[in-house]
Order: sequence, then structure tokens, then C-alpha cells
Amino acid sequence: MPPFFRLDGVSFAYDHAHPVLAGACFRLAPGEKVALTGPNGAGKTTLFHLMVGLLKPSSGTIEAFGAPRRTEREFKEVRARAGILFQDSDDQLFCPTVAEDVAFGPMNLGQSPADARIIVGQTLEMLGLNGFETRITHTLSGGQKRLVALATVLAMRPDVLLLDEPTNALDEATEARLTEILLGLPQAMVIISHDRAFLDRIATRRVRLDHGRLSEIG
Ligand SMILES: Nc1ncnc2c1ncn2[C@@H]1O[C@H](COP(=O)(O)OP(=O)(O)O)[C@@H](O)[C@H]1O
Ligand SMILES: [Mg+2]
Repeated sequence: MPPFFRLDGVSFAYDHAHPVLAGACFRLAPGEKVALTGPNGAGKTTLFHLMVGLLKPSSGTIEAFGAPRRTEREFKEVRARAGILFQDSDDQLFCPTVAEDVAFGPMNLGQSPADARIIVGQTLEMLGLNGFETRITHTLSGGQKRLVALATVLAMRPDVLLLDEPTNALDEATEARLTEILLGLPQAMVIISHDRAFLDRIATRRVRLDHGRLSEIG
């Protein structure tokens, strides 16, 4: 099986005077849960955005799911199979109710409203959010929002999860719950985190991003 992602020599800058990535290389194989560490501002979030085509590299190549990806059409398929859990849940949740937010992805992928409703129920149940369908999203706690945001990603049945500081600002109980959920998921993952205890439990491999390049650690 080819790697899910293969990035070679990827460079990117928001402004030319300050390159963020400078020849970064990365592989993600099925079954891996890769910890992505590195200082604040190193470009970890930027790397996620490049992987799913929200940003385009200035040079280098991105392959995903066995095919080179350059055009918007090619990346649309990548985004259907690789979901980002954003660092700030408020960036992910934009509907009035939980059910609408979680149904949004499946409906966008062409599921009927009836099938989307079934997926919503199954996904919420898997995350221990039974009965949350009619809850008003903006009234949820930070921890509940994080789990609902994860539900919106999982509802698309992705092969890859890109998790951007998933335990940030969670209390201990919610972090423990999220850890158990992630340990039980079959998807390959890249996990940006500074939380060592969390990464010790989850990660199968560690990479560090610094000065625009990725290196294996440990
Ligand atoms: N939309 C943007 N426009 C301009 N600069 C940005 C933007 N997003 C991030 N940056 C800059 O790019 C660098 C990498 O940011 P980011 O990928 O968010 O780092 P990390 O996630 O590792 O903390 C930082 O210097 C940041 O200030
Ligand atoms: Mg970041």
C-alpha cells in the first residue's frame, strides 16, 4: 500500500522575506499516529493546510492517497479523505445545532438527509455524545465543542486525521476521554501537540518541524 501522504521538498512562504517551509519532506503510512512537534510559529498548522490544499506550495510535490495533487479538484478529493481538527473549535462549528454541524460534511459529500441523520447518530454515539443532536453549539463547553468538532471530522469517514493541538485547553477528564477515543480509532493521524504525556500514549512516531524542515526524532 502506498503511503497516504508523501511530501517532497515542499517550500512555502506567506511573504517572501520569511519562508515557513524550506524543502520539507514527510511520509504518512496507514496505521501510523505521528506526533508533529516544533516551536510556536514553526509552520505546523501551515503544513496541515498545505497537505489538504488550503495553501499551495511554492515548490516541491505533494502526493496523497497514491496520486500527485496540485489542482483544486485533486485536493477536493484529499479533503474528503483527510480531515483537519482545527486548533480552535469555533473555526469548525458554524451551524446553530450540533446535528447540523455534524451532518454538514456527509451532506456535502452527497449523502441524503436521511443517511446523514444516521451518520450523525452513529458518530455522536461513538464519542459518547448521545442526545446532543439538538444542543445549541455555541452554548457548549470548550471540551464538548472539541468533541463535537471531532464528530464533524469523523462523520466524513476519513482515512486520515490531522489533529491541531487537540488537547489544548481541555480539562483532565476531557483530555483522558479524548485520548481513549483517539486510541480506539483506526485512522492514520498526524497530531500537533506540546502535551508529552498525551503523545507518549498515542504516538507511534515523532517528527519535529524546525527551520522549515522536518526531522525524525527519537
Ligand atoms: N495567514 C497568515 N498570514 C501570514 N503569516 C502567517 C499566517 N499564518 C501563519 N503565519 C505565520 O507563519 C508562521 C508559521 O505559522 P503556523 O503554521 O501557524 O505555526 P505553528 O502552527 O507551528 O505555530 C508564523 O510565523 C506565523 O506568524
Ligand atoms: Mg499552529
